[in-house]
Amino acid sequence: MSDFYLLPLDELRRHKSEKWRAFPADVLPLPVAEMDFPVAEPIRRTLLEMVNNSDLGYLGSIPEMGEAFSTFATRRFGWTPDPAQIRIAADVGVGIVETLRVITKAGDKIMINSPVYPNFWTWATETRLEIVDVPLTFDEVEINGSPWILDWDGIESAYKSGIKVHLICNPHNPLGRVYTKAELERLVELATAHGVIIISDEIHAPLTFSEQRFTPFLSLGPAACAVGITVTAASKGWNIAGLKCAIIITQDATMHARLDAIAPATHYRASLLGAFATVAAFKEGEPWLDALMVQLDSNRRLVEELLATHLPLAKSHLPHCSYLSWIDFGGYEIGAEPHSHLVENAKVAFVPGARFGEKFANFVRLNFATSPAILEEAITRVARTLH
Ligand SMILES: Cc1ncc(COP(=O)(O)O)c(C=O)c1O
Repeated sequence: MSDFYLLPLDELRRHKSEKWRAFPADVLPLPVAEMDFPVAEPIRRTLLEMVNNSDLGYLGSIPEMGEAFSTFATRRFGWTPDPAQIRIAADVGVGIVETLRVITKAGDKIMINSPVYPNFWTWATETRLEIVDVPLTFDEVEINGSPWILDWDGIESAYKSGIKVHLICNPHNPLGRVYTKAELERLVELATAHGVIIISDEIHAPLTFSEQRFTPFLSLGPAACAVGITVTAASKGWNIAGLKCAIIITQDATMHARLDAIAPATHYRASLLGAFATVAAFKEGEPWLDALMVQLDSNRRLVEELLATHLPLAKSHLPHCSYLSWIDFGGYEIGAEPHSHLVENAKVAFVPGARFGEKFANFVRLNFATSPAILEEAITRVARTLH
């Protein structure tokens, strides 16, 4: 669907969002996880109606949210969560931080698995938790089409040493990895045995490519629901992060009751526009999402082709979700911080790999939710500076 790449560069440069304000005009920005495509019609219609009706007050009761998400999850993932156990927060970050505040105390240990979305560190620091990083390992023997493997021995021995919460990113940013049902079941088993709570950040789930099956953590049955909490949003899938709304999901009476300690204000600190745009996305946004995935599928393959042709020493793998390529520039002699070299010399901006974990300084993250023309220009610009 061509609509997805019709936003012209000069129009994008007038955008007020971070992606288009962070760099000078001669830099092509491929960092921040926002998409350069027009917003879905049902969302635009909802927002315009509310603005035209001067309906811009506080967020109150919104039974539509639980119902819309549950129906979406049934259609998309074959999982029907109980809408009564769905709470609202301003964004996924707030949802996770407010959850951590009520299930941990300062000094508790939280496990993350790098390379991972940089805010996994900041959320843990904000809640004064001790971070235990058990990095994914790289193995030529792929699991589920990805060479990035969970370090089971490392996870188990850390669990034994007293982890309170394990924050997982599924599907995974920046690896584009979708955890298998078997992997998640193994985590449930270990978490149950060692009294660990698993928070599953599923914000990228709507963006799973069709060759993969995304397994919602809480769809795994009562044992998973007893140890699990999911935080997700429509903000990544439908590109509405600026509208500020996310959901926190439990599916177990005891876990649900534990989260009753979350401050009631967490609900109305989300935005009214964001909440109703989210309902519109879950309820009516799937045709747009399906068309988006066709474009993203073509873009992820284009990135791999462009890299193979123009940057043969750069290593990456076809992602199975979302719009992020994780690229190892270690084969090129461009210093300890490839992103700095590339933004200065090629005038293309990526996210530095070190933000996802200190071991990953050779990497950059590329956002391919843009036009094929911009991707081609970016990668050929980079190639020109490296040869
Ligand atoms: C894994 C993950 N979680 C959360 C977020 C941010 O979500 P929010 O803006 O709702 O806090 C992102 C943004 O890219 C992300 O990749």
